[in-house]
Amino acid sequence: MCGIVGYIGSKDCVDVLLDGLKELEYRGYDSAGIAVMNAEHISVCKVLGKISNLEKKVQTLDRSILKNAIGIGHTRWATHGKPSELNAHPHLGEFSYVVHNGIIENYKELKIDLEEKGHKFISQTDTEVIVHLFEEYYNLCNNTKEAFKKAISHLEGAFSVLLMSKVEPENIYFFKKGSPMVVAKGKVKNEVLFASTDAPLIGLAEDVVYLEDGVGGVARLGNIEFFSKDYTWSKLPTSKAYAQKDGYRFFMEKEIYEQSDVAGDCTLGRIHGEKIIFDELAKLDVDSIKEIKLCACGTSYHSALMASYLFERLAKIGVKVEIASEFRYKNPLLLKSTLFIAISQSGETADTLEALKMAKKAGLKTLVICNVDNSSMTRLADFCILTRAGIEKGVASTKAFCTQSLVLWMLSLYFAEIKKNISKEKLQDEISALREVPKTLLVKTKIHEKCRRLAKRYLHGHGFFFIGRDVFYPLALEGALKLKEISYLHAEGYPSGEMKHGPIALADKELFTIALMPKNMLYTKTKSNVEELSARDSTICAISPLEFDLADDFIKTDEKSHYMLEFFDILIVLQIFSLEVSIRLGNDVDMPRNLAKSVTVE
Ligand code: F6R
Repeated sequence: MCGIVGYIGSKDCVDVLLDGLKELEYRGYDSAGIAVMNAEHISVCKVLGKISNLEKKVQTLDRSILKNAIGIGHTRWATHGKPSELNAHPHLGEFSYVVHNGIIENYKELKIDLEEKGHKFISQTDTEVIVHLFEEYYNLCNNTKEAFKKAISHLEGAFSVLLMSKVEPENIYFFKKGSPMVVAKGKVKNEVLFASTDAPLIGLAEDVVYLEDGVGGVARLGNIEFFSKDYTWSKLPTSKAYAQKDGYRFFMEKEIYEQSDVAGDCTLGRIHGEKIIFDELAKLDVDSIKEIKLCACGTSYHSALMASYLFERLAKIGVKVEIASEFRYKNPLLLKSTLFIAISQSGETADTLEALKMAKKAGLKTLVICNVDNSSMTRLADFCILTRAGIEKGVASTKAFCTQSLVLWMLSLYFAEIKKNISKEKLQDEISALREVPKTLLVKTKIHEKCRRLAKRYLHGHGFFFIGRDVFYPLALEGALKLKEISYLHAEGYPSGEMKHGPIALADKELFTIALMPKNMLYTKTKSNVEELSARDSTICAISPLEFDLADDFIKTDEKSHYMLEFFDILIVLQIFSLEVSIRLGNDVDMPRNLAKSVTVE
């Protein structure tokens, strides 16, 4: 959550910071700000809302006085203190400026103590204590480095921090614990750059350090001093395909349409003839795995839940699925014969990352299924499978979920074969179906148009139930989450068979049931459940290849030979339905309210 950037160099500092923040805006967009200083001047600019507002406001700055300035910037997802200009970073003390990503858990105690010592706080944030703590120690020891180290040593929680001070206007201090931060040597001589992830640095720098927890230092033009030896330089790719909307109205729409291509990338080299191969797992002793724990948050959790059906059915391995934020605090039973699989688009989600650390510490073999290479999770886990979905910009995850599901399906077959729990014929059938996935994911104009027309009929009412059975239950959860996230309408996902155990009490005309009715998975059972809802007047929208005469609305999908192909077919319908409802409501599809792409706070 939150994105931070920093710059020391000869370019226009304001422009470099703004470009970096734009790349990180998916991490939060409640407010944004920069502080830029040289030996004579300091300018601070903060706004409520998105970077575009900041871009307008910086026009008022006098850039002529900011020659050779260094600077720090921030885009915020609010945790402590509501979104406002006052609570926007950078936070200021008497003579220092700080940006911060994470949470200072003991900020209340620190604040009380500092207030007693005469410090005046103006925001409701946890971050502001950092700058006052630094100034308190500086006033005592008159040494910036000591003061920074002392201040950091009193902070509890997860945080990455950049700090500048008028007393040393050429230096930026940095520290990382929990939340990510990357330090880079710029391509232009003597430049130093900082960012929460490497994305803003690609093209600007080649040599980077992905900071480990507990590592900090101080940088000035042409020099980066680390306070410890726990760092290694790595190379960044020299260029990147910048994610553009390419004519689509929103990134989310583009990412839905990209799914066919990224599914192809995801399976590339992993399906060989009649075999599934994961070179990444060559050193994993599959026979020793007695149980699998899948752990994730949000949409990634839905792919984990889906996989639990496949691992048990195909590979015959017992599976437990864990919501990372619950797993962390339940004193879980961790056995060394368990393979712990973390699933994450970003590789930075705080709860999943901490759960992964717990599993690793307990001696479990760990695997991460992730979309972002060099993220905290890919660097930590023993094994890593990249989903290869490409940069996902839309806050509502689409292609990441699609490729996670695909990897997990392939992985269940990979384990099934090694454990000799699948017949040759069955494996061949599964692999033939897998090969059909990219084609299945091509968006049909007819389906998109149908969803667009239906969207306007589903804007009122008191809620949605998405229902399905087997892997279509996690898919129902995902459909409901997509709708909630971007349309702000109330939606729940339920196993079809559970409706009669309570939720059916809500059924009436104003309750919309989105029924996932694949032909190849428990069709008759699901149909009976939908009939029960229809008999109680719920408005039914059925998604199925088979005509269903009780449906008020019907989205006809193609007939497929395998239920997993129907899974991907219905996934597209659910994503486009949410997209169209959100567009009709006039919402910002790519940046829905209250959300951020990467949740780096617990
Ligand atoms: C929903 C969504 C979130 C994420 C969740 C975990 O569309 O994107 O629910 O799935 O925050 O994020 P990752 O996968 O990055 O760990």
